Amino acid sequence: MDYEAVMKLALERGFYFPSCEIYADAQAGFWEYGPSGVSLKNKFLELWRRELIRRDGMLEIDGSQIMSKSVFEASGHLGNFADPIIKCIKCNATFRADRTIAELTQIEIPESADLEEFDNVISQNNIKCPKCKGDFDKTKNFNMMFKVGIGPEEEEAYLRPETCQSIFVDFPRLYKTMRGKLPIGIAQVGKSFRNEIAPRQSLLRLREFYQAEIEVFCNPNNLSEVEKFSEIQDVTLRIQTDGDPVSMTCKEAVESGVVPNKLVAYYLGILTEFYEKTGIDITKSRFRKLGDKEKAFYAEVAFDFEVETTIGWLELVACNYRSDYDLTSHATKSKQKFEIMDGDDKVLPHVFEISMGIDRSLYTILEHSLKEDKEHERIVLALKPYLSPVHIGILSLVKKDGLKEKTDEIYLQLKRKCDAFLDHSGAIGRRYRRLDEIGSPFAITVDHQTLEDGTVTIRMRDSMEQKRINISELDSEVIQSIAYP
Ligand code: GLY
Repeated sequence: MDYEAVMKLALERGFYFPSCEIYADAQAGFWEYGPSGVSLKNKFLELWRRELIRRDGMLEIDGSQIMSKSVFEASGHLGNFADPIIKCIKCNATFRADRTIAELTQIEIPESADLEEFDNVISQNNIKCPKCKGDFDKTKNFNMMFKVGIGPEEEEAYLRPETCQSIFVDFPRLYKTMRGKLPIGIAQVGKSFRNEIAPRQSLLRLREFYQAEIEVFCNPNNLSEVEKFSEIQDVTLRIQTDGDPVSMTCKEAVESGVVPNKLVAYYLGILTEFYEKTGIDITKSRFRKLGDKEKAFYAEVAFDFEVETTIGWLELVACNYRSDYDLTSHATKSKQKFEIMDGDDKVLPHVFEISMGIDRSLYTILEHSLKEDKEHERIVLALKPYLSPVHIGILSLVKKDGLKEKTDEIYLQLKRKCDAFLDHSGAIGRRYRRLDEIGSPFAITVDHQTLEDGTVTIRMRDSMEQKRINISELDSEVIQSIAYP
């Protein structure tokens, strides 16, 4: 289904909604997750930990969201982390130059193009302010960092624009204390902050957002000696360099030079396997190799993992080969040692990054899972059972005759083993429909027969099949089916 259908579901079923919505001064680009959204997010992250962090033996940290000015002087964000903006001379409205030009003329200019390129296209195409038709001033850069003042002296610090800076800053300590060995992945989940000029489309462009980032530290001389490569060599990647995406195995991608080495291909492979398990339609995905003008300022080679949705291709993960950019910058600025011993080699590790946007990934999972079942006049969120916010609905047919008490008793048994939702009121059909909409793969109903023979009716979300099972069979029917793959 489309963006509007996902939005309606999100607002009505507790997935997400605008922050501070009761106040007129609520700022755009800030959204909150409700209970269904939090439950989905937690399960998505558990899958991420299983499929990437634990699978690869990575380390996970949890760093500060506010970091010192020196960090971002070294990282280059204070100098370079900017979007091109254009301001109307007449009404003072400000727009992102690349987006406004693309919307008005269909001319695509990469956001990191030279500023004159925007000015030339604006004058050649006679582009005017969409609000008042006034002329634009020259294109300028707008830095997207959020500055904060610490303590009464208001010392300058910043909200992090990417979680990974603490991973780089902490690398020498972590490598030493955790007895690291290259290649080693260090990961972090948390919030990042960017002062976007035009936040839009709910979770898709936020000013405060969640990232799950992995930084793989490696010896640049050993990028093709990857023991685990055989695990993923036959995984199919869809890679777009120019023209249409081409499907090839990880092995073929390395042999043909489309992916620069086995280390990068290995991580693209395990990332693909992870997204397949989220239920996203992987045939609608691609790794798009970015051109020089599209890459972030720190990236030497970059592939964006993008997925097609009803509102276009969405970038869910940035895979950047950052080389020694970050460690060199922090070593120079801090005058600390970042070189380590790898066997007999003294090396400054290079970094390959897998930077995942959690909010966009959740949106895409919702959009790809939301179906309209016209025959049965229902909306179904066909999530993978292990990602469903609610695993099982537990319903009493009626509250009287001891059925409420029996239902409560079953709920008490199940709620510590899975996410169970207890519902005693309303027509049973409507209760099933609500559970379908939040993706609950199972519902059980307790009726008079339950009191006689200890059986309940179990209903499957996708097939709507119903059968009677003994309460003692719930473990094998339900608890085993919601296990992670
Ligand atoms: N760390 C890469 C990014 O935030 O895009």
